[in-house]
Amino acid sequence: MYKAMIAGVGHYVPDQVITNFDLEKLMDTSDQWIRERSGIVERRWVKDGENNLDLAEKASLQALEQAGMKPEDIDFIIFATLSPDYYFPGTGCLLQERMGFTAIGALDVRNQCSGFIYGLSIADQFIKTGMYKNILLVGSEIQSRGLNMSTEGRDVTVLFGDGAGAAVITRSDDPQKAILTTHLHAEGSHAKELWGEHPGSIQKPRLTHELIDSTSIFPYMNGKHVFKHAVTRFPEVIIEALRAAGVDKSDVDLVIPHQANQRITDAVRKRLELKEEQVYSNIAKYGNTTAASIPIAMSEAIAEGKIKDGSLVCLAAFGSGFTWASALIRF
Ligand code: ACO
Repeated sequence: MYKAMIAGVGHYVPDQVITNFDLEKLMDTSDQWIRERSGIVERRWVKDGENNLDLAEKASLQALEQAGMKPEDIDFIIFATLSPDYYFPGTGCLLQERMGFTAIGALDVRNQCSGFIYGLSIADQFIKTGMYKNILLVGSEIQSRGLNMSTEGRDVTVLFGDGAGAAVITRSDDPQKAILTTHLHAEGSHAKELWGEHPGSIQKPRLTHELIDSTSIFPYMNGKHVFKHAVTRFPEVIIEALRAAGVDKSDVDLVIPHQANQRITDAVRKRLELKEEQVYSNIAKYGNTTAASIPIAMSEAIAEGKIKDGSLVCLAAFGSGFTWASALIRF
């Protein structure tokens, strides 16, 4: 059985910065409310003409460069997103063409905020069995084109941003460096507490003028319900990973939680009694970028020297589904 490790990480966020004050002009909200409830100060939104594939390509090029690899070295693409450019085909196929990969497989993963860790676990299994050697894993989102920009949608809209992150996962020749363990969970009984109901095949036709005029084409979130479950599932799945690998929480150099909300991150840190410097946060700058949030954070943590050779890093996510997941990685 082989081992898999992370060989390179990259990220890209659009240039356009949208501050909380910019949102005040669109809806009845305030910088103070957003900061206090979420820790978010600003987020990035794409400009007209920029799409999910563009963000993914830029993040992927950086990840390949850091890994010292070229497109022809990659054996498989895993693409996590809830905001693909098209209903079908998956954006992984578009990335295969755009970046000039050979005719390798491209798998799209639809596990929302947990999408990157689900993808990481899939990559880990493919590499462990020897099926593939080098896998490109991408999390890329354009939330801004699916949000309700009126006061009615303010509870959700102020939280989300656009961006992409990518990682190259490779077979490890180093006995120390490895994805040590991954854990995936789902509980569909909460599906309707955080979801995008329409458009979809439940409706005939999938999209009608009435739906466009209604609010059901925008994401719905039961914020308190999500909060309650997130602060339980995050610690649970982090502990599950630590136990599986036989390590103590004090051994972990950095926990990178999905950047959902600073209050959730703080509550998780307190429950696990982790030090502030053990838990990474960049939500103030980008908001919640769903499947992209963990690889963006991981990329920035590497650039800031918070992840170095030998660092023990725990990734954890919770989101729509509900889904939740964790991974423990030795860099
Ligand atoms: N600006 C101003 N006021 C607002 C806004 C806004 N953007 N949104 C809601 N309000 C109002 C509400 O209408 C309500 O007004 P009322 O008292 O007159 O009825 C008031 O603020 C309080 O609303 P609550 O929903 O009770 O606020 P709460 O303290 O629960 O905070 C929040 C809302 C931030 C969404 C919180 O529930 C939360 O953090 N939930 C977790 C959700 C989350 O992080 N989701 C991320 C996506 S899922 C994931 O990634 C895990």
